[in-house]
Amino acid sequence: MKEPFLLVNFKTYEQSTGKNAVALAKRISKIDRNIAVAPQYVDINRLSNICKNIFAQHVDGINFGRNTGHVLAESLKQAGAIGSLINHSEKRIEMKEIELSVKACKRAGLISIVCVPDVKTAAKVDRLKPNYIAIEPPELIESGRAVSKIKPSLITNVAKNVKSKVICGAGISCGDDVKIALELGVYGVLVSSAVVKAEKPEKILKEMIKYV
Ligand code: G3P
Repeated sequence: MKEPFLLVNFKTYEQSTGKNAVALAKRISKIDRNIAVAPQYVDINRLSNICKNIFAQHVDGINFGRNTGHVLAESLKQAGAIGSLINHSEKRIEMKEIELSVKACKRAGLISIVCVPDVKTAAKVDRLKPNYIAIEPPELIESGRAVSKIKPSLITNVAKNVKSKVICGAGISCGDDVKIALELGVYGVLVSSAVVKAEKPEKILKEMIKYV
Protein backbone atom coordinates (compact mmCIF):
# COMPACT_ATOMS: atom_id res chain seq x y z
CA MET A 1 0.00 0.00 0.00
CA LYS A 2 1.34 3.40 -1.00
CA GLU A 3 2.11 5.92 1.72
CA PRO A 4 0.82 8.31 2.83
CA PHE A 5 -2.63 6.82 2.53
CA LEU A 6 -6.19 7.79 3.23
CA LEU A 7 -8.38 5.17 4.92
CA VAL A 8 -12.16 5.56 4.99
CA ASN A 9 -13.68 3.68 7.92
CA PHE A 10 -17.20 2.57 6.93
CA LYS A 11 -18.16 1.78 10.58
CA THR A 12 -21.81 0.69 10.68
CA TYR A 13 -23.40 3.75 9.15
CA GLU A 14 -26.46 3.11 7.04
CA GLN A 15 -24.75 4.95 4.18
CA SER A 16 -21.94 2.37 4.20
CA THR A 17 -23.75 -0.90 4.91
CA GLY A 18 -24.48 -3.70 2.41
CA LYS A 19 -25.65 -2.34 -0.96
CA ASN A 20 -24.74 1.15 0.16
CA ALA A 21 -21.23 -0.08 0.99
CA VAL A 22 -20.88 -1.32 -2.59
CA ALA A 23 -22.15 1.97 -4.02
CA LEU A 24 -19.86 4.01 -1.77
CA ALA A 25 -16.85 1.82 -2.58
CA LYS A 26 -17.48 2.32 -6.31
CA ARG A 27 -17.63 6.08 -5.86
CA ILE A 28 -14.42 6.02 -3.83
CA SER A 29 -12.53 3.78 -6.24
CA LYS A 30 -13.46 6.01 -9.17
CA ILE A 31 -11.53 8.80 -7.50
CA ASP A 32 -8.52 6.62 -6.67
CA ARG A 33 -8.28 2.87 -6.26
CA ASN A 34 -5.53 3.39 -3.70
CA ILE A 35 -7.86 4.94 -1.15
CA ALA A 36 -8.16 2.33 1.59
CA VAL A 37 -11.54 1.36 3.04
CA ALA A 38 -12.62 -0.47 6.19
CA PRO A 39 -16.09 -1.97 5.58
CA GLN A 40 -17.97 -4.33 7.88
CA TYR A 41 -16.71 -7.95 7.75
CA VAL A 42 -19.63 -9.23 5.73
CA ASP A 43 -19.05 -6.60 3.05
CA ILE A 44 -15.32 -7.28 2.59
CA ASN A 45 -15.74 -9.98 -0.02
CA ARG A 46 -18.15 -8.07 -2.22
CA LEU A 47 -15.90 -5.01 -2.14
CA SER A 48 -12.78 -7.01 -2.99
CA ASN A 49 -13.13 -6.50 -6.75
CA ILE A 50 -13.89 -2.80 -6.34
CA CYS A 51 -11.24 -1.51 -3.92
CA LYS A 52 -7.58 -2.48 -3.75
CA ASN A 53 -6.84 -1.74 -0.11
CA ILE A 54 -9.45 -3.24 2.19
CA PHE A 55 -9.09 -3.37 5.97
CA ALA A 56 -11.27 -5.19 8.47
CA GLN A 57 -12.56 -3.16 11.41
CA HIS A 58 -11.29 -5.73 13.93
CA VAL A 59 -9.57 -9.10 14.07
CA ASP A 60 -9.43 -11.59 16.93
CA GLY A 61 -6.19 -13.10 18.16
CA ILE A 62 -7.29 -16.66 17.47
CA ASN A 63 -6.11 -19.54 15.30
CA PHE A 64 -8.11 -22.02 13.20
CA GLY A 65 -10.33 -24.13 15.42
CA ARG A 66 -13.20 -23.91 17.87
CA ASN A 67 -13.86 -20.16 17.99
CA THR A 68 -17.52 -19.62 17.14
CA GLY A 69 -18.35 -15.99 16.50
CA HIS A 70 -14.74 -14.86 16.31
CA VAL A 71 -12.98 -13.14 13.42
CA LEU A 72 -10.07 -15.15 12.03
CA ALA A 73 -7.19 -13.32 10.31
CA GLU A 74 -6.86 -15.96 7.58
CA SER A 75 -10.57 -15.65 6.83
CA LEU A 76 -10.22 -11.88 6.39
CA LYS A 77 -7.27 -12.42 4.10
CA GLN A 78 -9.17 -14.91 1.94
CA ALA A 79 -12.16 -12.56 1.78
CA GLY A 80 -9.90 -9.91 0.25
CA ALA A 81 -8.64 -7.81 3.16
CA ILE A 82 -5.03 -6.63 3.20
CA GLY A 83 -5.11 -5.64 6.86
CA SER A 84 -7.15 -4.87 9.91
CA LEU A 85 -7.81 -2.17 12.45
CA ILE A 86 -7.25 -3.36 16.01
CA ASN A 87 -8.49 -1.76 19.25
CA HIS A 88 -10.52 0.94 17.52
CA SER A 89 -12.06 3.28 20.08
CA GLU A 90 -15.46 1.74 19.24
CA LYS A 91 -14.08 -1.82 19.64
CA ARG A 92 -11.61 -1.65 22.51
CA ILE A 93 -9.83 -4.79 23.65
CA GLU A 94 -7.32 -5.63 26.42
CA MET A 95 -3.56 -5.25 25.83
CA LYS A 96 -3.13 -9.05 25.83
CA GLU A 97 -5.77 -9.36 23.13
CA ILE A 98 -4.13 -6.58 21.11
CA GLU A 99 -0.91 -8.59 21.24
CA LEU A 100 -2.65 -11.72 19.99
CA SER A 101 -4.47 -9.79 17.24
CA VAL A 102 -1.19 -8.28 16.01
CA LYS A 103 0.34 -11.77 16.01
CA ALA A 104 -2.63 -13.14 14.07
CA CYS A 105 -2.15 -10.41 11.45
CA LYS A 106 1.55 -11.25 11.11
CA ARG A 107 0.75 -14.96 10.75
CA ALA A 108 -1.86 -14.32 8.05
CA GLY A 109 0.13 -11.64 6.21
CA LEU A 110 -2.21 -8.80 7.11
CA ILE A 111 -1.20 -5.20 7.84
CA SER A 112 -1.99 -4.28 11.46
CA ILE A 113 -3.20 -0.82 12.44
CA VAL A 114 -3.56 -0.53 16.21
CA CYS A 115 -5.62 2.44 17.39
CA VAL A 116 -4.67 4.20 20.63
CA PRO A 117 -6.13 7.13 22.55
CA ASP A 118 -2.91 8.49 24.10
CA VAL A 119 0.89 8.47 24.25
CA LYS A 120 1.06 5.97 27.12
CA THR A 121 -0.96 3.33 25.27
CA ALA A 122 0.99 4.06 22.08
CA ALA A 123 4.27 3.28 23.86
CA LYS A 124 2.87 -0.04 25.18
CA VAL A 125 1.49 -1.02 21.78
CA ASP A 126 4.77 -0.10 20.09
CA ARG A 127 6.47 -3.06 21.81
CA LEU A 128 4.15 -5.37 19.85
CA LYS A 129 5.59 -4.04 16.57
CA PRO A 130 2.38 -3.42 14.63
CA ASN A 131 2.69 -1.99 11.12
CA TYR A 132 1.00 1.25 12.16
CA ILE A 133 -0.17 2.96 15.33
CA ALA A 134 -3.22 5.17 14.80
CA ILE A 135 -3.69 7.98 17.28
CA GLU A 136 -7.39 8.78 17.62
CA PRO A 137 -8.59 10.84 20.59
CA PRO A 138 -12.10 9.40 21.18
CA GLU A 139 -13.62 12.76 22.11
CA LEU A 140 -12.83 14.15 18.66
CA ILE A 141 -14.39 11.28 16.71
CA GLU A 142 -17.33 12.51 14.59
CA SER A 143 -16.88 15.95 16.15
CA GLY A 144 -15.90 17.84 12.99
CA ARG A 145 -12.86 19.06 14.99
CA ALA A 146 -9.74 17.56 13.46
CA VAL A 147 -7.10 15.94 15.65
CA SER A 148 -4.45 17.52 13.40
CA LYS A 149 -5.72 21.01 14.21
CA ILE A 150 -6.93 20.56 17.80
CA LYS A 151 -4.20 18.24 19.12
CA PRO A 152 -1.14 18.48 16.84
CA SER A 153 1.22 17.98 19.78
CA LEU A 154 -0.46 14.67 20.62
CA ILE A 155 0.45 13.39 17.15
CA THR A 156 4.04 14.57 17.35
CA ASN A 157 4.43 13.23 20.91
CA VAL A 158 3.23 9.79 19.85
CA ALA A 159 5.63 9.88 16.89
CA LYS A 160 8.51 10.80 19.22
CA ASN A 161 7.73 7.94 21.59
CA VAL A 162 7.28 5.04 19.19
CA LYS A 163 9.24 3.27 16.47
CA SER A 164 6.11 2.16 14.57
CA LYS A 165 4.76 4.30 11.76
CA VAL A 166 2.13 6.70 13.07
CA ILE A 167 -1.15 7.58 11.41
CA CYS A 168 -3.99 9.66 12.85
CA GLY A 169 -7.72 10.15 12.72
CA ALA A 170 -10.72 11.74 14.46
CA GLY A 171 -12.68 14.73 13.27
CA ILE A 172 -10.85 14.95 9.93
CA SER A 173 -13.31 16.91 7.79
CA CYS A 174 -11.56 18.72 4.96
CA GLY A 175 -8.47 18.83 2.78
CA ASP A 176 -6.74 21.23 5.12
CA ASP A 177 -7.10 18.79 8.05
CA VAL A 178 -5.34 16.13 5.97
CA LYS A 179 -2.66 18.57 4.81
CA ILE A 180 -1.82 19.58 8.40
CA ALA A 181 -1.73 15.93 9.52
CA LEU A 182 0.74 15.08 6.76
CA GLU A 183 2.88 18.09 7.63
CA LEU A 184 3.09 16.66 11.15
CA GLY A 185 4.68 13.58 9.62
CA VAL A 186 1.98 10.91 9.67
CA TYR A 187 2.01 8.02 7.19
CA GLY A 188 -1.73 8.01 6.74
CA VAL A 189 -5.04 9.54 7.78
CA LEU A 190 -8.22 7.83 8.96
CA VAL A 191 -11.53 9.44 8.14
CA SER A 192 -15.13 8.35 8.51
CA SER A 193 -18.21 10.52 9.13
CA ALA A 194 -17.13 13.49 7.00
CA VAL A 195 -16.94 11.20 3.95
CA VAL A 196 -19.50 8.47 4.66
CA LYS A 197 -22.26 10.86 5.74
CA ALA A 198 -21.56 13.49 3.10
CA GLU A 199 -24.11 14.07 0.34
CA LYS A 200 -21.25 14.16 -2.13
CA PRO A 201 -18.40 12.03 -0.74
CA GLU A 202 -16.48 12.57 -4.01
CA LYS A 203 -16.22 16.29 -3.40
CA ILE A 204 -14.63 15.97 0.01
CA LEU A 205 -12.45 13.01 -0.93
CA LYS A 206 -11.04 14.79 -3.96
CA GLU A 207 -10.15 17.69 -1.73
CA MET A 208 -8.45 15.34 0.76
CA ILE A 209 -6.64 13.16 -1.75
CA LYS A 210 -4.89 16.19 -3.25
CA TYR A 211 -2.53 16.18 -0.30
CA VAL A 212 -1.93 12.46 -0.05
O1 G3P B 1 -11.43 5.27 12.33
C1 G3P B 1 -11.65 6.61 12.01
C2 G3P B 1 -12.70 7.24 12.82
O2 G3P B 1 -12.80 6.79 14.13
C3 G3P B 1 -12.73 8.72 12.73
O3 G3P B 1 -14.06 9.05 12.69
O4 G3P B 1 -15.98 10.35 12.00
O5 G3P B 1 -14.16 11.43 13.29
O6 G3P B 1 -13.76 10.78 10.93
P1 G3P B 1 -14.52 10.49 12.20
